[in-house]
Amino acid sequence: MRFHYRCSDCGREFMTESLMYQCPECSKENDGSHFPKGNLIVELEEDVLRKAKEKEHVTPDDFYPYPSEDKEAYPIGITPLMKPRRLQKRTGLEHLSLKLDSQLISGSFKDRASYEVALQAKALGENKIVLASTGNAGAAASAVGAAMGLEVILFVPASAPINKLMQSVLYGAHVVPVKGSYDDAFALSIEYSKMHGGINRNTAYNPMTIEGKKSISIELFEQMGRKAPDAIYVPVGDGCIIAGVAKGWMDLKKAGLVSKLPKLIACQSEKSDAISRAIENDDYRAVSATTRADSISVDLPANGRMAASYVKESGGWAVKVSDEEILDSQLTLTRYAGVLAEPAAACAYAALEKDKEHLKAELGQDAEVVVLITGSGFKDMKAFDGRATIPEAIENSVEALKNLSF
Ligand SMILES: Cc1ncc(COP(=O)(O)O)c(C=O)c1O
Repeated sequence: MRFHYRCSDCGREFMTESLMYQCPECSKENDGSHFPKGNLIVELEEDVLRKAKEKEHVTPDDFYPYPSEDKEAYPIGITPLMKPRRLQKRTGLEHLSLKLDSQLISGSFKDRASYEVALQAKALGENKIVLASTGNAGAAASAVGAAMGLEVILFVPASAPINKLMQSVLYGAHVVPVKGSYDDAFALSIEYSKMHGGINRNTAYNPMTIEGKKSISIELFEQMGRKAPDAIYVPVGDGCIIAGVAKGWMDLKKAGLVSKLPKLIACQSEKSDAISRAIENDDYRAVSATTRADSISVDLPANGRMAASYVKESGGWAVKVSDEEILDSQLTLTRYAGVLAEPAAACAYAALEKDKEHLKAELGQDAEVVVLITGSGFKDMKAFDGRATIPEAIENSVEALKNLSF
């Protein structure tokens, strides 16, 4: 056996590699009012971790429950680790880096989870993937599905940004826009997969999503010279990305490759702050999310409990920012770093700007800090409406140049 499952709430172990989504006991308590219970953690067997430790360099395949047989069919990473010199100066953080997951094939971090779920589907002989998404996970699953010959059924809120919906249509998925929220689409997609089968890729509901997402930490470990940074700023909605980041470092620690976890900073909009409330006040109730940063607009975070507990275990904290600060940060990233990020991704940088003095007080100004840029701004150019305009065309004459003020 390469892995087995453990319930993140009751700790019960399931010694199987068969398809499992949630702990059958703990999930009975879920009634939609509080963060769901019963999400499963994949535990790699000792032997897998020992082999990883013996290698001169590790790759995500050394830690995947389902390693890839043909990496080139849909390459995941290695995404650039940018040293944004002007932002380092602006923040006073000399060792600030941006991890550009906006550069993944479908333009967001979500390729990581979709790829591992596709490998799971292949291994289990399934050819259909069903999911709900705020947009990016859907686009990622659709892209991976196209490349790997899998059918994708995607439930999305009809209000998702048009580029994300169109991406999925173009990749050939069956797109089902839902007149409701992301949380409504999530519930419908689970009913659909119960009715019609296929592998359900819903974030955190399928534990392989966390396993795919952890690949970023394995990459970072090698990119940073085989060590962990001091802190990682992560945009948070359902809490699956931040749990994946944590899981990567936890697996590296279990393998004996690092001695401590980086501090994980959960970055949220004030208008979608369920996980921050859990971190700060142990409040696990649903909220009514309304943020413009659509990818992190979540009422009932699917992985809220695990995310909050991993943040605390890492010694990290939550930072909430306003939507204004998020949209302003998009412009800071473009103008100071040449990085075009969607609002959810810019939330992590907005949180760093807000939190930088506290961070320096906690970890010193030479702390190694990584901000995850999880999605490309090309996916949602409408977010810039009212903040940037394309200038009027000038006459095609040399005379017109005299009127330019720059
Ligand atoms: C670009 C981007 N950033 C951050 C997130 C938040 O991830 P999670 O919902 O796992 O917390 C998402 C999720 O859709 C996303 O698409």
